[in-house]
Amino acid sequence: MTDWSKLQGMLKETDAESKRFTVDENKLVEHLKSRVKGQDEIIADVARLIRLSWMKDKRTRPVCNLLFLGPTGTGKTELAKAICEYLFGDEGSLLRFDCSELASAEMGKARLTGASAGYVGADQGGQLTRPMFANPKRVVLFDEIEKAHPIVFDLLLQLMGEGRLTEQGSGKTADFTQAVVVMTSNALAESMGKAVAGLTDYPRIMNAIKTVLSESGTFRPELLGRVDKVYLFNPLAGMQIAEIALLKIAKLGQEYGVETRFVAPELLIQALEANIRVSKFGIRELERILFDRYANHFVEARAAKAKAVSFEVAESGEIVCRREQPPA
Ligand SMILES: Nc1ncnc2c1ncn2[C@@H]1O[C@H](COP(=O)(O)OP(=O)(O)O)[C@@H](O)[C@H]1O
Ligand SMILES: [Mg+2]
Repeated sequence: MTDWSKLQGMLKETDAESKRFTVDENKLVEHLKSRVKGQDEIIADVARLIRLSWMKDKRTRPVCNLLFLGPTGTGKTELAKAICEYLFGDEGSLLRFDCSELASAEMGKARLTGASAGYVGADQGGQLTRPMFANPKRVVLFDEIEKAHPIVFDLLLQLMGEGRLTEQGSGKTADFTQAVVVMTSNALAESMGKAVAGLTDYPRIMNAIKTVLSESGTFRPELLGRVDKVYLFNPLAGMQIAEIALLKIAKLGQEYGVETRFVAPELLIQALEANIRVSKFGIRELERILFDRYANHFVEARAAKAKAVSFEVAESGEIVCRREQPPA
């Protein structure tokens, strides 16, 4: 005998399933490129990987486990945030751990999965498990992964391999099968850069990276077994930094409610040069430099009720801010 009502119920379920959010790879690429510059090959590959895994009906592991390697200030964290914003609607769903704070066995384990039952703080649970109970749709980011204590490392391997992790105090299990796991490291960036220079195909690049990892001993190579893909971020070139400067000026303007219509290229080059003067590598200082130079223009523009501005350059090299007044 067929239980028709049950069957109908099942059909409804599949219907609801099919209406779930599907990942449009082109749109994902476009979104990631709008935030992360100079890493187009990584973005193309990561978007493909995410779409293919996202479309599975069932997963027993996270959507993907990614390892981002490369010099500091090249967009590793930024890419994780951008992925989170696209997939989960908001970069606030990103859960970040600095593994240098997980360097001791007790601290690291308690931080992630809470204190054991009966110990102080056990009822508070873990800083990883609790947010995952509340919302399992997240990007979970572990920065400077090589600094984690081996015990923490074992937890991560379990999380990545089985898609679950049990809280110590409550014994409840957190689900990671709807999460994207990203680990980053800028350790060995220089030697890896050298080892892969000139290589173009992925298997060879991976071999070179594995060799550097195993020879250095700072990194546990089992990690690679659980990781779906390793990406080596490129150092940024001048043009890309100029482009990032433009993005950051526009974003700063938005924070004051002022739209940026135009920035003279000379001004971007100035920002680039100022950045190189303070840090040879990366662009950590760029935001501060741009804040120093542009924030006050935005404040004044807003005080004058301008909705938009253009930044030109004077002969002296000074910034000239032209405000566009709303029509009277
Ligand atoms: N490739 C990039 N594209 C856009 N912004 C970037 C890029 N690299 C770095 N940035 C900017 O520089 C700052 C540091 O970047 P981040 O992604 O945290 O670097 P890391 O590679 O060390 O994680 C962020 O404010 C980010 O916006
Ligand atoms: Mg980072």
